[in-house]
Amino acid sequence: MKIAVENIKPTIGSIVRVDRSALLTDEVAQRCLELLDDRGVLVFPRIGLSDKEQLAFTDKLGARVNFTNRVPGGDSATQGVYTITLDPKINTEPEYVLGTYFWHMDGMTSPIPPPKASVLSARKVAAKGGQTEFASTFAAYQALPEEDKADIAKLRVMHTVVAAVREVATPESLDPQRRAMKHERPLVWTRKSGRKSMLIGYTADEVVGMSHAEGRALLARLLEWTAQQEFTYRHQWSEGDLVVWDNCGALHRVIPYATDSGRTMHRTSVAGVEAAT
Ligand SMILES: [Fe+2]
Repeated sequence: MKIAVENIKPTIGSIVRVDRSALLTDEVAQRCLELLDDRGVLVFPRIGLSDKEQLAFTDKLGARVNFTNRVPGGDSATQGVYTITLDPKINTEPEYVLGTYFWHMDGMTSPIPPPKASVLSARKVAAKGGQTEFASTFAAYQALPEEDKADIAKLRVMHTVVAAVREVATPESLDPQRRAMKHERPLVWTRKSGRKSMLIGYTADEVVGMSHAEGRALLARLLEWTAQQEFTYRHQWSEGDLVVWDNCGALHRVIPYATDSGRTMHRTSVAGVEAAT
């Protein structure tokens, strides 16, 4: 198998070098799934996939899910592909992209199992900014003191769109349908394998059964803990790069970039297969 893997940091990330022609083989796809589980973030430098190839690779990793097809940019290039841009010609509701300047996981506010993985390719990069940062909630959870693990073991969190965009938009300015979007998730996410991570980030609005202040303080503390250098990786994009990450095991955010930068990314998503516990 023509695949070479180089780890980025001990807790997160691998660079995967593979021939574009071999990417869609069962053998490589299976290896990528194992690596994704183990490393959280996989970088395929300048692999240069077309939308069709990106969709085909996404399909090799699991069932495809398109929960952003009603957001501006959803299906705008190719059906099933979400175009992420601040270009006002494509994106008439920039707050959903501006909200991604803050740590989050994709699909948390939709009434679906949390998406397993996100697949993102760089079509045009910004001259300044636009890097994507990732933070492993697997590694961060594992490193928590046992007392904290016990305290959060049974907690549940309400994720809302209002919370996701709270730094960039008022609730009143949102489309009423999206303003109402919310979904409850366990704080600690347990895989069938027993491995645990945390479902946190800016979509996390309230801890169920806790006062607003206590819940928000806990969520902020867990987010700060997870964003430590040792659990994070910042990807500097080149055109044609493809990055796949474990959406329930890694937070992500983008470093701000200019509206007229032309930055254009194409995202596809792999559906979650494990129901919340
Ligand atoms: Fe995202």
